[in-house]
Amino acid sequence: MLQQQLLDDLVLATTAEQVETVRIKYLGRKGLITNFAKATDFSKLSADEKKDFGQKLNELKNFATEKLQEAADKISAAATATPHRLFDLTVPGSNRTSGAMHPISMVQMELEAIFEGMGFTVLDSLEADTEYSNFESLNIPADHPARDMQDTFWLTNGMVLRTHTSSNQVRALKRFGAPFRGIFPGRCFRYESIDPSHENTFFQCEGLMVGENISVAHLIGVMKTLLSEVFRRDVKVRLRPGFFPFVEPGFELDLSCPFCGGNGCPTCKGGGWIELIPCGLVHPKVLEHANIDSTKYSGFAFGLGLTRLAMMKYGIRDIRYFNSGDVRVLEQFPPVV
Ligand code: DAH
Repeated sequence: MLQQQLLDDLVLATTAEQVETVRIKYLGRKGLITNFAKATDFSKLSADEKKDFGQKLNELKNFATEKLQEAADKISAAATATPHRLFDLTVPGSNRTSGAMHPISMVQMELEAIFEGMGFTVLDSLEADTEYSNFESLNIPADHPARDMQDTFWLTNGMVLRTHTSSNQVRALKRFGAPFRGIFPGRCFRYESIDPSHENTFFQCEGLMVGENISVAHLIGVMKTLLSEVFRRDVKVRLRPGFFPFVEPGFELDLSCPFCGGNGCPTCKGGGWIELIPCGLVHPKVLEHANIDSTKYSGFAFGLGLTRLAMMKYGIRDIRYFNSGDVRVLEQFPPVV
């Protein structure tokens, strides 16, 4: 009875003073437990009964002392747990890892910013596309040997995984008409066996500028500006003839080695020049596919290897790292903040 009564009183005692009041109520000089002992007439009890009573009384006192102490402890613990103690600034931080930017994304974002600065629109394009977009519209008919230049993943529905970002040229021109300035960065696929310099999945950035009187001079100007910004130094470019069915004339654009300034180093294999960007003047047949008057308009196009550029820029020797998902490689790039 008394035990339960004590517990009930303690539930209501939420301050040290209230606990003390409860203590006095039970264990004080005139407390309920003390009185209980006093009120008992020992002379009427046998020796055994006295012993038994004494034991019970002690148990009751111990019980009360223990519960009162617990209540007091609880209150003082709560009092010391003030809010600032909840945030212990001395506890070492947990080791949170944050993701890093993929090197290809970094190069892509950099190119986009440079081209936007030159008035180019950045367009998204399809990874699975029609045979028409990837080949026919680019003046590569079915029996054309140029199809063999690019080993293709064909889908069962007759579509292809695009082998190059050029696949978006005619679609973009049809949609926006002339004049047009745009780039389309994206993932491309080729049915290749993989080695340190070949991947079946890689990134390109296609560029296209169509307008009146667009010439090779514009092409060179844009490429030189682009590459000087990417490598943060004044670079030289040169053109050599190259063949691609969708440009006429077609070129291979070489860049004076940005690492040695053209004196010869391992990156340029001692030659001072790096073959970097296939390009050319848009073939009239491509313009016609887009219903653009090829007697009035001309343009240039280029297909920059984004993956290759990232390899050069960051000194990555093996192309397979890009798709490996190996965090030891990615960790070396700046964290995303
Ligand atoms: N699409 C070509 C390839 O992936 C590269 C290319 C060459 C793109 C010449 C062009 C170009 O725009 O003018 O092999």
